[in-house]
Amino acid sequence: MTGELITVAVPKGRLLEESSALFEEAVGVSPATLLGKTRKLAADAPSAGLRFISIRAADVASYVEHGAAEVGVAGLDVLREEPRDLYEPLDLEIGRCAVIVARPRGARPLPRGVSPRVATKYVNLAAAHFAARGLPAEIIHLHGSIEVAPSLGLADAIVDITETGETLAANGLVIEERVLEVSARLIVNRVALRLHAERLRRLVDALRGAVATLAGRRG
Ligand code: PRP
Repeated sequence: MTGELITVAVPKGRLLEESSALFEEAVGVSPATLLGKTRKLAADAPSAGLRFISIRAADVASYVEHGAAEVGVAGLDVLREEPRDLYEPLDLEIGRCAVIVARPRGARPLPRGVSPRVATKYVNLAAAHFAARGLPAEIIHLHGSIEVAPSLGLADAIVDITETGETLAANGLVIEERVLEVSARLIVNRVALRLHAERLRRLVDALRGAVATLAGRRG
């Protein structure tokens, strides 16, 4: 919390525009407009009592859990990959995608008892998924370009997120299983929730209204 402003961590990248539309509807200010086209990573919106900070999507939950921001926007994939002590009051219904298992189109099933080699940045979700099927996987931790791993012989399968399916198709992969349906969640620091209960309740209510309004507009 900076002075009287509540700090909101918004993710860079894919979720920024959709998050901004929600905040604009809820509190009349757009973090993308405030932060966009500059290298500034923080911007105040005193009219709304908020300060926005621009954070990598994978780091938003850390900022909020440790209290560097009171509030944040984070994908369910990130929240389930690395569970944290956070309050998750609202499904923002944006950033919809899925964590999936994909394999090369036409690949033969692995012989019984052979552990698949699985390339992923979601090492915990992937390990838990295969363990639950009684099939301990050899997890290969990558940070990006996961879809190219099977064609290079690095992995039998991948666990990654897909939105449009274009990256999978372009790399000759097909979805074998869906692991987790994902959307972005509003996350709130637990201590902040007690200290600023009324202001945070009003913000959550305003965002809940904005989610409904934007869903209505989408039809
Ligand atoms: C994600 C994911 C896929 C791609 C899928 O990567 O890792 O590569 O999006 O999207 P699609 O189904 O619409 O093709 P992202 O763009 O977030 O970048 P990253 O791999 O660097 O995290």
